[in-house]
Amino acid sequence: MERLDKRLSSTGRWTRREVKELVRRGQVTVDGRPAASPEEKVDERAVVCVSGEAVALERFLYVMLHKPSGVLSATEDPRQKTVLDLLPPEYRRRGLSPVGRLDKDTEGLLLLTDDGAMSHRLTSPRSHVDKVYYARVSGVLQEADRQSFAAGMVLGDGLHCRSASLEILSSDECLVTLQEGKFHQVKRMLAAVGKPVVYLKRLSIGALRLDEALAPGAFRLLTPEEIALLGG
Ligand code: URA
Repeated sequence: MERLDKRLSSTGRWTRREVKELVRRGQVTVDGRPAASPEEKVDERAVVCVSGEAVALERFLYVMLHKPSGVLSATEDPRQKTVLDLLPPEYRRRGLSPVGRLDKDTEGLLLLTDDGAMSHRLTSPRSHVDKVYYARVSGVLQEADRQSFAAGMVLGDGLHCRSASLEILSSDECLVTLQEGKFHQVKRMLAAVGKPVVYLKRLSIGALRLDEALAPGAFRLLTPEEIALLGG
């Protein structure tokens, strides 16, 4: 048995406050009769409907976050704010984890999910999933830099980086596409060609693009179409 508000808010579609309001307005039914209160205990086989539509318990939750700078891509930290702190409690309770990490000062697309298989598929270099980053650098980007990225690199500390795409947008702006995600990889590759990164933002993971309607710090659930694009 589980509380009705917990069950409905764990779908990520409504907050507990919204569930309370829906129950008050008589829009929630449990096995065909109006729910008595948001705290009502419901059996896991009970058919719960909201506005006449049966609500399936989502197996997994997929959240798109526009990660702002200054927040850690971690699930918890004793001192610093993490991306989980940007989500409401009903999402956090689902045990979401970031799919791959962005540095504290990197912005952009961060996917959070409790679907471990999807997370592994998107981050494993063997899956060849493109991650596209927009970078602004100090210095003037050159064709030779593009060639160095295309050839793959061995960094000063021995780190092997596979072939990557560098698309030069202007003298100090580029798009970098990687299929792996080693620690500080974009920054280290650009630093290796003498162009330190001054700003970095992830734009996409595979076919999933950052929703530009989301301001930094804002989030939303993936649509069923977006989940399908990622192979979910
Ligand atoms: N590469 C980096 O250097 N930093 C990130 O946050 C992501 C990729």
